[in-house]
Amino acid sequence: MEKHHGHAASNAATMNRGPAWLDVLQGGSGLVLVLFMWAHMLFVSSILLGVDAMYAVARMFEGEFIFGRPYPLLVSGAVAFVSLIFVLHAIVAIRKIPASYREYRLFLRHASIFKHSETRLWLVQVITGLVLMLLACAHLYQMLVNPGAIGPYASADRVWSGRWWPLYLVLLVSVEVHGGIGLYRLALKWGWVNPRSGAAGREQLRRVKWAITGFFLALGLLTLAAYMKLGYEHRHNVGERYVPQQQAE
Ligand code: HEM
Repeated sequence: MEKHHGHAASNAATMNRGPAWLDVLQGGSGLVLVLFMWAHMLFVSSILLGVDAMYAVARMFEGEFIFGRPYPLLVSGAVAFVSLIFVLHAIVAIRKIPASYREYRLFLRHASIFKHSETRLWLVQVITGLVLMLLACAHLYQMLVNPGAIGPYASADRVWSGRWWPLYLVLLVSVEVHGGIGLYRLALKWGWVNPRSGAAGREQLRRVKWAITGFFLALGLLTLAAYMKLGYEHRHNVGERYVPQQQAE
């Protein structure tokens, strides 16, 4: 169990009690997950460029362009790796929730060094984090055990006929909001903005945060809509796989 020393409300440095390396682990794993999600969204959104673009991305991750034939196990390997970082991040974060909660309450009671909006952001992050734990696990397990079922038709069938779109919708909003706030807090904590710029710097950082979140939310919604439309059109041929024109001839 964690030991608590000193007076929590005495100064801002006591914000993150507990071993410092846990903080680094939480921030580091969070940053890796955010970067992964940016890449993930770009790859998944290849469907917006057309079915052939998405097909090529899916085959690329199966190593087809290197080995000459697809190895879906490579995808499972990547999923296992991402899942590990995800679990690590969740465990460290959960461990810190009660202590952080006590600190925030104290801060607020003691005439609040931090603005209320910061506390609200923290609460949103706790809630979206819990949602993510549930929904991301379902998605990751699905990808882990069905690595070969990724492609324009296979994915669209899953999204529409497999009824995964409601889960993706909630997962998308949660992950973008959670990652955006997480990145914002990391930028403050790790001093990516000039501390002397004070409230103005923080305000600017918030605008950047919303721009990033807005971009990936819009891209994600468009992408999801594209899979839903394709899945709807393909609803009478569920299970049939997409074959590119040149291969079909
Ligand atoms: C290596 C691990 C992962 C792989 C291989 C993967 C793969 C995919 C694929 C192929 C799709 C397209 C839909 C489908 O085929 O069902 C998709 C959609 C999605 N994934 Fe992942 N995913 C991974 C990890 C994650 C994680 C960790 C999250 C979030 C915590 C996530 C969130 C989403 C969301 C929100 C969508 C819907 C896309 C949209 O709404 O635009 N994925 N993923």
